[in-house]
Amino acid sequence: MPEFDETFDLNPLFSRPGEMEKKMKFSLENGAMSPETAYQIVHDEAMLDGNARLNLATFVTTWMDPLATKLYAETVDKNMIDKDEYPATAAIEQRCWTILADLWNAPNPQHTIGTSTIGSSEACMLGGLALKRRWSNERKAAGKSTEAPNIVMSSAVQVCWEKFANYFEVEARYVPVTEEHQTLDSENIKDYVDENTIGVVAILGVTYTGMYEPVAEIAAALDEIEQEKGFNVPIHVDGASGAFIAPFLQPDLVWDFRLERVHSISTSGHKYGLVYPGIGWVVWREEKDLPEDLIFKVSYLGGEMPTLALNFSRPGAQVLLQYYMFLRLGRQGYTEVQRSSQDVANYLAEEIGKLGPFELWSPTTDIPVFAWRLKKAYTEKWDLYDLSNQLRQHGWLVPAYPMPDNLADMTVQRIVVKNGLSMSLAGILLEKIREAVAYLDGLEGPLPKEGRVTASYSH
Ligand SMILES: Cc1ncc(COP(=O)(O)O)c(C=O)c1O
Repeated sequence: MPEFDETFDLNPLFSRPGEMEKKMKFSLENGAMSPETAYQIVHDEAMLDGNARLNLATFVTTWMDPLATKLYAETVDKNMIDKDEYPATAAIEQRCWTILADLWNAPNPQHTIGTSTIGSSEACMLGGLALKRRWSNERKAAGKSTEAPNIVMSSAVQVCWEKFANYFEVEARYVPVTEEHQTLDSENIKDYVDENTIGVVAILGVTYTGMYEPVAEIAAALDEIEQEKGFNVPIHVDGASGAFIAPFLQPDLVWDFRLERVHSISTSGHKYGLVYPGIGWVVWREEKDLPEDLIFKVSYLGGEMPTLALNFSRPGAQVLLQYYMFLRLGRQGYTEVQRSSQDVANYLAEEIGKLGPFELWSPTTDIPVFAWRLKKAYTEKWDLYDLSNQLRQHGWLVPAYPMPDNLADMTVQRIVVKNGLSMSLAGILLEKIREAVAYLDGLEGPLPKEGRVTASYSH
């Protein structure tokens, strides 16, 4: 039997000729190996990951139907940037963002501009860049300084906005979330906005809690600021999750291009757009909201096509899957799928809220996501990280994590209900939660804190 060695321990033990030998883990081998052996090594290692269907931490799609999987396999070789070579995929991409512009009530969806991206992070970066360029072009034209741009957003923004501010040198002005103000709202925005504000980010579906920020109220506050001080500050809606929920579950909520101040909206096709990971979207209200000088041209059918994106090459298959979902479900299908996720979220939230130790921190009325906390002084013996670790032992990934800044001493636990978490699976999960609580309550004293998974929350 070969001895275990950190750097030489890849060893598929299936005993076929030539397999009983060590392979290097961190250096490229000189020789090749059979595809079956290589497959088995990778397959076996991936098998050790958590089960995606039980991953209630992620917002990202973990189930698509078999025809989607077939289409995926047939189209994995398409590079989205090769618009001239894959004109059908390019046309479908354009159709998809036009559909979104229409869904989000753009005044003239045929005359908007948008793009697919690798996810919401890239889409947010592009939205932020357009805000910055618009602001700096206007300032330059007025002979004013462009030295110190800032962007105003809640302290509960997803990390992509911190990245945007850092990478593109914009001061991030965080409005703290508190017990009284669980999201950004119109009240204290005035203290943060000035002539150097390139825009305000409003989140439709805050990552920590699933709550919607009141976009119309924020737009009205910015209208007042404009009247009082003359600053015309646009909004980017980060609708990573909510922009695929609100049009179906809350069609009367005004948060989108019905508000003139909303210049751009981004979303993740791979979250409630119901497509496997690697797709986001950003759309501008009108062509003029995206400064011309951010657009590049690629050749397309002997002509030129406008593109904007941070990466050049990226998979085209997810764009085709998005279109498949649009055709497959239509408005009615999306409404039914999102509603059934919300039904499951309501059921889970209600039952978890009934358990002695917990109180709900966010409702399930926005996206099918909710968070709860441990009641004050419920017990010294265990906390939500212990509960998370107990559930992990049964394969369920239900993260616990601290809230941001002003609420950082508060820990919450969150469930993201996605298509594929059926009522019956939810019932089984509840049973496990009840069992875990009974076990933790019955302990003599606190569990050791070492080795626990903490703050394991996925955006
Ligand atoms: C509100 C919000 N914005 C942006 C993102 C980043 O999305 P992506 O993972 O698609 O880059 C997330 C991810 O959860 C999110 O919740």
